[in-house]
Amino acid sequence: MEQLTVDLGARSYPILIGDGLIRSIGEHVAPLLKRPRTMIVTDTHVADHYLVPLGTALAMENISFSSFVLEPGEATKSWAGLARLTDWLIGEGVERSDHVIALGGGVIGDLVGFACSIVKRGCHFIQVPTTLLAQVDSSVGGKTAINVAAGKNMIGAFHQPALVVIDPATLATLPRRDLAAGYAEVIKYGLIDDADFFAWCEAHGEALLAGDSAARHKAIAHSVAAKARIVAADERETQDIRALLNLGHSFGHALEAETGYSDRLLHGEAVAAGMALAHRFSAAQGLCSAADADRVAAHLAVVGLPHDLASAGVDADGATLAAHMAHDKKVRGGKLPLILTRGIGRSFVTDEFGLDVVAAFLDGEQHR
Ligand SMILES: NC(=O)c1ccc[n+]([C@@H]2O[C@H](COP(=O)([O-])OP(=O)(O)OC[C@H]3O[C@@H](n4cnc5c(N)ncnc54)[C@H](O)[C@@H]3O)[C@@H](O)[C@H]2O)c1
Ligand SMILES: [Zn+2]
Repeated sequence: MEQLTVDLGARSYPILIGDGLIRSIGEHVAPLLKRPRTMIVTDTHVADHYLVPLGTALAMENISFSSFVLEPGEATKSWAGLARLTDWLIGEGVERSDHVIALGGGVIGDLVGFACSIVKRGCHFIQVPTTLLAQVDSSVGGKTAINVAAGKNMIGAFHQPALVVIDPATLATLPRRDLAAGYAEVIKYGLIDDADFFAWCEAHGEALLAGDSAARHKAIAHSVAAKARIVAADERETQDIRALLNLGHSFGHALEAETGYSDRLLHGEAVAAGMALAHRFSAAQGLCSAADADRVAAHLAVVGLPHDLASAGVDADGATLAAHMAHDKKVRGGKLPLILTRGIGRSFVTDEFGLDVVAAFLDGEQHR
C-alpha cells in the first residue's frame, strides 16, 4: 500500500492506494469514527461489484452501516438526487461527527461530497473512487457539486474528504470507454508541468488501458501526487496554480455543451479533444511548436481518444463553440482565462486572447 497526504493544515488527509484495499478498508476507517457506524452511498453499477466487499470489510472491524444505492449517470448529480440523499442521511440519523462513504465514480463523489457539506451544516466523508477519472482526479481536492439547468457543476462547495481510499483493482470491471476517458486526465498531468511523465504515458498508456496493474498503480500514484501538490498550493483556485488543472477543459467544455453533456462525448473524451485543441491553438499563436501539438494528438489517437473536432463528433462553427465557452463559470470580468502552453509540460494561464480569436481558430478546425 502506498500513502500520500494532501497537506492542508488541520484539514490534511491521507490518500491510500493499493490493489484490494476495499477488502481491508475497515482498519483505515475505524480510527476516524466517533461511533462505530457509517453510511455508504453508491450507484447500482458499483453496488453490484463492490458494496458487499466494502460492507464485509467494515463488519470485520465491527462497524455497522446502511447503504443508499442511486441510479448511475450524470442525472443523479441534480437537485432531485441531492434532496433524496440528504433526506436519506437525515432519516438515518446522520450526525456531524459521522463519516459517509462515497463509493463510485465522480458522480457519486461530487454528489456525496456536496450533501456532506450541507447536511446538518456539514459532516465528514470518505472517498472510495472506482473509476480511473475519480481515482486520479475528482476524489482528491474537495470540489463538490451538482448540475442545474444553467450548467454543469454550477452549485457546489469546497469540502475536503477525511480520507481517500483508492483500490486500482476495481478498475477491472470499468468499461473500456470510461477507462480511456479517465486516462485523458492522467495525460493532463504530464502536459501541465511534467514532460517526463507525458513521455512515460506515451510508453505505457496502451499497457495501462489493457490492464497492466503496475502501470495503473504508477499512473494513479503519480497523478494523485500531482493533484495533491496543486491543491495544497491553491486549495480554492484563487491563484493561477489550481487553474492549470483546467488544461483542455475550456475547449472541452464547449464540446460537452455542444453534445448536450450526453453519452455522445464523455467528460474525459471532451478533455482529450480539448487538450489537443489547446495545443494546436498555442501552436497557431506561435507559443509552442506544431511538432509538440502533433505529438499530443498522436498519443491521444493511439489510445483511441478524440484528438480534434471531427474525432470528437462535433461539427459546429467557431462562433457556436465560442459562445459555449463564454458561459464557462471561469469567466472573470467578461474574459475567459485559457490554459495554453509553451510546449509539452509548460502550460500557463492567460486571458490575453479574446473569444473572437478563439472562434476564428475553431472555424479553421471545423474544416481541417
Ligand atoms: N470534483 C472534481 O474535482 C471533479 C473533477 C473531474 C470530474 N468531476 C465530475 O466527475 C463526474 C464524472 O465522473 P466519472 O467519469 O467517474 O463518471 P461516473 O461516476 O458517472 O462513472 C462512470 C460509469 O462507470 C460506472 N462505474 C463506476 N465505477 C465502476 C467500476 N469500478 N466498475 C464498473 N462500473 C463502474 C458508473 O456507474 C457509471 O456508469 C462528472 O460529473 C464530473 O463533473 C469532478
Ligand atoms: Zn476533468
